[in-house]
Amino acid sequence: MTITVVGAGYVGLVTAAVFSDLGNKVFCLDFDAKRIENLKRGKLPFFEPQLDDYLSKNFSQKRLFFTTSYSESVPKSQIILVCVGTPPKENGEANLTYLFNAVEETAKHLSGYTLIAIKSTIPIGFEDEIESAAKKFAKTRFEFASCPEFLREGTAIEDTLHPDRIVIGTSSKKAQKVLLELHAPLGGERIICDTRSAQLIKYASNALLATKISFANAIANICEKTGADVEKVLSGVGADKRLGRSFLYPGVGYGGSCLPKDVLAFAAVGDHFNYNFDLLKTVHRINESQIDFFLNKIKSAFKNKSLVSKKIGILGLSFKPNTDDIREAPAIKIIKRLIQEGAEVTAFDPKANENAKQEIPEVIIAKDEYETAKQKDCLLLLTEWPQFIQMDYEKVKTIMASPILFDGRNALHKEKLESMGFKYIGVGR
Ligand SMILES: NC(=O)c1ccc[n+]([C@@H]2O[C@H](COP(=O)([O-])OP(=O)(O)OC[C@H]3O[C@@H](n4cnc5c(N)ncnc54)[C@H](O)[C@@H]3O)[C@@H](O)[C@H]2O)c1
Repeated sequence: MTITVVGAGYVGLVTAAVFSDLGNKVFCLDFDAKRIENLKRGKLPFFEPQLDDYLSKNFSQKRLFFTTSYSESVPKSQIILVCVGTPPKENGEANLTYLFNAVEETAKHLSGYTLIAIKSTIPIGFEDEIESAAKKFAKTRFEFASCPEFLREGTAIEDTLHPDRIVIGTSSKKAQKVLLELHAPLGGERIICDTRSAQLIKYASNALLATKISFANAIANICEKTGADVEKVLSGVGADKRLGRSFLYPGVGYGGSCLPKDVLAFAAVGDHFNYNFDLLKTVHRINESQIDFFLNKIKSAFKNKSLVSKKIGILGLSFKPNTDDIREAPAIKIIKRLIQEGAEVTAFDPKANENAKQEIPEVIIAKDEYETAKQKDCLLLLTEWPQFIQMDYEKVKTIMASPILFDGRNALHKEKLESMGFKYIGVGR
């Protein structure tokens, strides 16, 4: 098949890489000319494991093409996969400007029967408007489907090759057939439904993941007040097969480009349909308050709770390991607050240093994790990259000004560190 993937971001590039690798001819289109030029030269806009290899292999074997031109790609394609961003507006609703623009530009260049499948996450209720916008420009017949994406940054290629499910939302039998054929080489359950249900599956999935994290944080807060240990409590809870332990992660809260925005956008969908989704509003509030909660712990470790001139080291900047994405990363929010409070902040991340420096010019970037710890009044673990967990903490203790460790991910071995002489402060432990 010939496919145009619109949007060369995390979802678009991974989608283009995998579908070209499966033998399709794929045009990966972005309106950002610099991004496309860089991609043609083998320069990726972000770090994602394995993506470089997949892109360069399929580009050099001429199955994958990068372009800014709708007229070059769309008329030759049977399927258009729309993967543009749907970032949040100030009020939490999704901004669909990019999506409308992508669909309208696509519609102008359609030739022969084409399927337009939306992989971007869009609020329920907009599918008719998007389809009508396309109809205004289309000169030939096209069909519409919702095909939400579930990949996770850091494991995006593996997730795309081995999905848990493929959701196909469309009322057209022909469109169903085309999408089933496209996904035939991939595993996972097939869920065929209407477009609204498909979009709801995406929002409900992210909402439940976020709810689990905020629930774990609420339990952690109660553990701190009662003297219980949240890690033991959640292990006990998770041992129940009906519940499981996954995503019950207490810590500094969720971040990234999806959970925070999708929780708010889903709550806004509720409001739009006259349902007050209080649960999700609380999930969001708990997540936001985790940052204050963690900052208070840090301030409490110092005289008069003052961070003025305190030298603080930060391990990890990305919103999770194996990515350089700092969108809504708890580490970035915490650093901004520490700097506001007068602290001198030094940080290190295996992949996200440059992105963080652009976002917060005041942060000092260390050359590695040990330099981050050197002569610091305390050290904060904010992203659980394996190399931080495997550090030589005996050495860390000798180079710090004072051995205080704040574990924002409950990823370190509390008892072991305490026996080495560290003051260890986790979340809910
Ligand atoms: N990042 C994830 O982990 C993830 C996972 C699942 C779903 N999603 C959803 O997928 C969508 C894309 O997310 P992303 O993280 O890949 O976004 P991104 O910001 O990384 O990339 C979006 C790309 O689209 C391009 N673009 C925007 N408008 C365009 C247009 N009209 N024509 C051509 N190109 C255009 C931008 O230049 C950018 O390169 C969002 O709706 C997101 O919620 C993301």
